[in-house]
Amino acid sequence: MGFRPRHRSYFVVKQKAERGYFLSKNAVLIYLWKFIKTSGRLKEMPNDPTPPLNEVADLREWKRRLSLLLDYTRQMSLRKDLDSLLGVVVDSAREILQAERCSVFILDKKKNELWSRVATGGHTIRIPADRGIVGQSILERRVINIVDAYADKRFNPEVDRASGYRTQSLLTAPLAKMRGDVIGALQVLNKKGGPFQENDEKMFILFAEQAASAVANAQLHDDLQTAYKDTIFRLAAAAEFKDHDTRLHLERVSRYSRLIAGAAGQDEEWCERLALASPMHDIGKLGVPDAILKKPGKLDESEWKEMYRHPNYGADILANSENELLLMSERVARGHHEKWDGTGYPSKLKGDAIPLEARIVALADVFDALTSRRCYKSAFSLPDALKIIYEGAGKHFDPTLVEAFKRVASNIIQVMETFADRPLDPPPLPAAPKTYNIE
Ligand SMILES: [Fe+2]
Ligand SMILES: [Fe+2]
Repeated sequence: MGFRPRHRSYFVVKQKAERGYFLSKNAVLIYLWKFIKTSGRLKEMPNDPTPPLNEVADLREWKRRLSLLLDYTRQMSLRKDLDSLLGVVVDSAREILQAERCSVFILDKKKNELWSRVATGGHTIRIPADRGIVGQSILERRVINIVDAYADKRFNPEVDRASGYRTQSLLTAPLAKMRGDVIGALQVLNKKGGPFQENDEKMFILFAEQAASAVANAQLHDDLQTAYKDTIFRLAAAAEFKDHDTRLHLERVSRYSRLIAGAAGQDEEWCERLALASPMHDIGKLGVPDAILKKPGKLDESEWKEMYRHPNYGADILANSENELLLMSERVARGHHEKWDGTGYPSKLKGDAIPLEARIVALADVFDALTSRRCYKSAFSLPDALKIIYEGAGKHFDPTLVEAFKRVASNIIQVMETFADRPLDPPPLPAAPKTYNIE
């Protein structure tokens, strides 16, 4: 094989892996070497320099799988969000194990359920966590290899009936983090060219360990993102609460901004950051007195002057951070009332001098203000709102961004409808009578 576990023993590598890190290339090689050695393939080689052809074929197959495993392990480590990671897990398991299908089951501890986020073929499967083959594989923490699914009592044919698929062979392994927690299970179906062999089981264990680490990391990343988003929206909602806007306004502006940014050619990471930064656009309203924000009538000149300060207040709240998201939020807060032709506020910036993120949020925010009902105005009709936006190209708005807006207008309208404000609460009912006669 041309490699030896020279620097670290198998056990040291295993111990390190148990801390939850991805295995290095060397560590994977050592594991593989160990598996091959213990399965007896190399035992006779020193005395037999020309191994039989079937052994050569076996070694070639191991080499192919090892190479795929290394490639896919790297790809998995680069995926931060769970959905795209699960796509890689499914594709790689199918290719490495030469299986027709693969399902990843994620454990929902609260419901004690396993659910399949990605199932090749597009079907979603939900099962109790402690039943069936997958449940047993998790409980006993071992690989279960079934040659003929329909001859096995544990197999539930309902899944096939629902999906219109015929399962023959099945290989199931728990997705267990190195430190012990089981986070789900992995199942490959129908090995091409015959049932799954012992070698497949060993490779599957190795693969499932790598996948479990990647899935656990992605879950953590997803949880952090959710907490992050929740905190930002709550903070931004505090400012909106002082004004007339709603949390749904923030949600819509966030989604419109992301769509426009994507249509304007920004990459996924930038778009995601803008989706989180855009809700902070009016955070500076926290610094504007309620008497002005909630004044029912028109504002006088001095009140408008105070109102015009909210972009700077917001930027000051968000300033001096080293975090790229907060820096972007600062640019959005300061620039979202600037206009392309230089007639906006607070700095009368013109054209490209206005940061791109602020130009995008300006467009999203105005479109939402136009299409929303406020206590002081009704909503514009959609055609009228679109006309105002399109006529604002080159004046209020960056013309390139208005073109981007047009390209995703149908998606924007879909967001507008999905996240529409609730109808106003019904008028209060008359007070209940003091006495009530039951006949
Ligand atoms: Fe504003
Ligand atoms: Fe707004």
